[in-house]
Amino acid sequence: MLNNLPDGCVDLVVSSPPYNLGKEYESRQALEIYLEEQTTILRECSRVLKNTGSLFWQVGAFSDKGMLIPLDIRFFPILESCGLIPRNRIIWARQHGLHAQKKFSCRHETILWFTKSDTYKFNLDAVRVPQKYQNKKHYRGSRKGELSCNPDGKNPGDIWLFRNVKHNHEEQTIHPCQFPEDLIARIVLCTTQAGDIVLDPYMGSGTVAVVAQDYARYYIGSEIEPKYYQVSLRRLNRQPDENGYFPNLKTLRDYVDQTGQPIEKFRFDLQIGNKASERSQAKIYPEEYHLQAMEERLSYEEAAFGANLRNEKIPLDPKVNGNGKKSQSPDTTVEQIELRLWE
Ligand SMILES: C[S@@+](CC[C@H](N)C(=O)[O-])C[C@H]1O[C@@H](n2cnc3c(N)ncnc32)[C@H](O)[C@@H]1O
Repeated sequence: MLNNLPDGCVDLVVSSPPYNLGKEYESRQALEIYLEEQTTILRECSRVLKNTGSLFWQVGAFSDKGMLIPLDIRFFPILESCGLIPRNRIIWARQHGLHAQKKFSCRHETILWFTKSDTYKFNLDAVRVPQKYQNKKHYRGSRKGELSCNPDGKNPGDIWLFRNVKHNHEEQTIHPCQFPEDLIARIVLCTTQAGDIVLDPYMGSGTVAVVAQDYARYYIGSEIEPKYYQVSLRRLNRQPDENGYFPNLKTLRDYVDQTGQPIEKFRFDLQIGNKASERSQAKIYPEEYHLQAMEERLSYEEAAFGANLRNEKIPLDPKVNGNGKKSQSPDTTVEQIELRLWE
């Protein structure tokens, strides 16, 4: 597919490649063969990218019998050898995941952002997020009384916390490792404009194409597994199939919201109960909510660890009950411990 595209025809490449390692060869050799194949693909991606274009390559850490192979470290020089220029190494952090026993549990993946030249598109205003202290004002100097931060919001930074498309996520299809649509929307909105062309050489369930369609961008993609290719066509088509099925709950909910039809008339592929739940019943939180929750949690864990080291009373986690209800007044709060550390 890539070989058939002309030079410089695409505005954005965004993808997550498969890690089909360690199947037929010894893992180390498999890794080198895999990286060679990826080099060929990335050279082609770079060739088809416009001079103003960007490439986002999302990879995790590959584990070989507990030994870590951080793939982005291996991909970095490959991307540089394609003549691309690095812009960000985005950390996609997770609050949940497998619990390791003999090392720290893995809680992040990375997204490498490279551009073809220095004249790349980057529309920060399209992806700003709320400031932490939106109403904070200058308290002295010539700008006294004026807002001290941009009221349109702040740069989202390079730590992203979009929820993984697993357990009860409304976008979940039969594909095991989908991109969340909002994560792709952030990339598409800041690096392209309407009418631009987005390419995903490993489309999976078609998330990149769905988001491109949402924001009036054109898309090109390929997927080797027919069952996933069918899922992307159904997501893009946004209509029920001949049996009244949708590829995921989100496509189903969008359809009933738009047509006003009763939700019980339809089903989605992974549906368990008799009736799909309405969107109005769903708890959907923005990325900022998860980021703040993670910051709070990490800050609590740090304070508890510090208190333990110093034989101090361990602060009580305000959410210790796990049900969102505040616990009874703790003896030492996280804030008090933080304050003492600062002092
Ligand atoms: C990590 S998944 C991508 C998931 C996708 N980002 C999504 O949101 O659903 C990688 C996909 O690449 C596909 N794939 C593997 N080798 C391929 C090839 N040579 N050409 C096209 N697709 C391929 C796999 O079947 C898999 O669905």
